[in-house]
Amino acid sequence: MSIAVGDSYHVHIGAGLLDRVAETATNKALIVHQPVLRSQAEALAAQFSEAYTFEIPDAEDGKTLGVAERAWDFLGEKNFSRSDLVVGLGGGATTDIAGFIASAWMRGIRVVQVPTTLLAMVDAAVGGKTGINTAAGKNLVGAFHEPHAVYVDLDFLKTLPEEEIISGSAEIIKTGFIGDEEILRIYESGEDKLPELIERSIAVKARVVAADLKESSLREILNYGHTFGHAVELVENYRWRHGNAVAVGMSFIAHLSHQQGLIDAPLLQRHLDIITSVGLPIRYEGDFDALYEAMTRDKKNRGGGIRFVAITQVGKTTRLEGMTKEQLRAAFEAMNQ
Ligand SMILES: NC(=O)c1ccc[n+]([C@@H]2O[C@H](COP(=O)([O-])OP(=O)(O)OC[C@H]3O[C@@H](n4cnc5c(N)ncnc54)[C@H](O)[C@@H]3O)[C@@H](O)[C@H]2O)c1
Repeated sequence: MSIAVGDSYHVHIGAGLLDRVAETATNKALIVHQPVLRSQAEALAAQFSEAYTFEIPDAEDGKTLGVAERAWDFLGEKNFSRSDLVVGLGGGATTDIAGFIASAWMRGIRVVQVPTTLLAMVDAAVGGKTGINTAAGKNLVGAFHEPHAVYVDLDFLKTLPEEEIISGSAEIIKTGFIGDEEILRIYESGEDKLPELIERSIAVKARVVAADLKESSLREILNYGHTFGHAVELVENYRWRHGNAVAVGMSFIAHLSHQQGLIDAPLLQRHLDIITSVGLPIRYEGDFDALYEAMTRDKKNRGGGIRFVAITQVGKTTRLEGMTKEQLRAAFEAMNQ
């Protein structure tokens, strides 16, 4: 099946899709991949008339300016032109750096994303945000660069460690709360329907980003659970998995929203039940002052105050601003009770 992201590009979803990636281009391709995907990168390269594999360091170590510079040198050596292609094959770290490399080479060439983790499938590879980590911080340097196409090959999930599935589920649950109640029902039923959850989650993200390609107000709703989640990641020096941080972030915003009268007790409980049912955490017992400080520095804040995306019911988002530190502390304490 395939999902259109506005009229920009398609996200193809299914098993065995790696064999179809080369259909997107007849020109030269650079296949940027993580070490664990070497054999798949070589198989993919064989489908193009001219393609090169480009292995990068694993995870966040692959998202650096040094890696991008090495890739640009290589593209120059092989005479890559405007009509050639970069493929990002790997988790979100790879799709981010591959997109960034493509965004700047000759001021932008095509990138095809082939996400291989659950998180990258439902989130990182869709939407056109690319980025690298620098001394100034994580993801502060990047560009909006829409992919030419995205291939979500479900076969990659077979080798993915269980904790990566659990972490990626947080973003799926998030899209359930902001935009598709059926996602929540599937989790509540306990049915094993991961492909449908992936499709539905991508459909929500596609709908949102198509309406707001450059992240102004609408796209912000994808940040549900992320304000507190980013603070946890920062305080924990990025040793926490993103999905786990987003999960406690959703627990926090649900408690805060309940305290502010935005959601009723059953909807708060629905958050907690679904998040725990997949093995994600709903508590974070760190230092509140450090978290508060981190939240005030979140790059998504506008005009100073901390700004949360909240819901009033499933699929109905709003903003929560102007909370005092004591109100936030009360939600934090309720979360950890
Ligand atoms: N651009 C965006 O909109 C966006 C959104 C969310 C996250 N991100 C970025 O995504 C990154 C996190 O993505 P991630 O969680 O996929 O991390 P990751 O890319 O580091 O991958 C996690 C681990 O899984 C391994 N792996 C990948 N595919 C595999 C497979 N099929 N089988 C077995 N192992 C496999 C990788 O080698 C790595 O060790 C962060 O850098 C984050 O900033 C970007």
